[in-house]
Amino acid sequence: MLILIDDADVAAIADVLSYLPADGVTTNPTILSRVGKNPVDVLCEIRELLPARAQLHVQLVSTTTDDMIAEAKALCAELGNDLYVKIPVTREGYAAIPRVTDLGFRVTATGIHSSMQGFMAAKAGAKYIAPYVNRMDNYGIDGVRVAADIHKMLRTHELDSDVLAASFKNSEQVLELVRAGIGAITAHPDVLAHLVGNPATDAAIADQNDDFAALVGGRYTWTDLLTRE
Ligand code: G3P
Repeated sequence: MLILIDDADVAAIADVLSYLPADGVTTNPTILSRVGKNPVDVLCEIRELLPARAQLHVQLVSTTTDDMIAEAKALCAELGNDLYVKIPVTREGYAAIPRVTDLGFRVTATGIHSSMQGFMAAKAGAKYIAPYVNRMDNYGIDGVRVAADIHKMLRTHELDSDVLAASFKNSEQVLELVRAGIGAITAHPDVLAHLVGNPATDAAIADQNDDFAALVGGRYTWTDLLTRE
């Protein structure tokens, strides 16, 4: 299962990469707008920061199928053919997915708010299917259930696609989908931090280290004790 960072803030991405086994970065037009800099420069910076094997997903903003294809070509020429081209599941986007795939580019179908949208995007050739979990919840649809349902449909029909669940607001939503065995999730650095951070862990370790300091007469580490003259 892949863990991706849903952000374009280079410092925040570098921070996540410094402590979590993250597999890449996803962006969308809103995420790039929050950085407020030239988006091409920002994407190039992110590409440079990421390890070679890591994924980068960038969303098209064109609204006609032909323009989407031209945009996919231009983005891949700039950022590499291993880029994941995010295509919204509009009518024009569904038409673009097989054509972009036929060019040899990788596609992530995005903006998914129902199981059938996800299934059709996979059938059209998208490698990743990105259901918007929290946004569905906001519409009164169980986003976790839809994402898990798409995963099940992909496996039942032996489609070579994976769910890349997005739009999370809390770590519980992520946990449920890890349990369901989906292929990938993408989340903001704050949500990712809550997947591993726990104040009870910090308190337990601090207590143990206090006890050790009392034993050895100060905040000495094993290195201090073992290399002391
Ligand atoms: O990248 C797409 C998705 O994560 C959108 O998230 O927070 O705008 O619902 P959000």
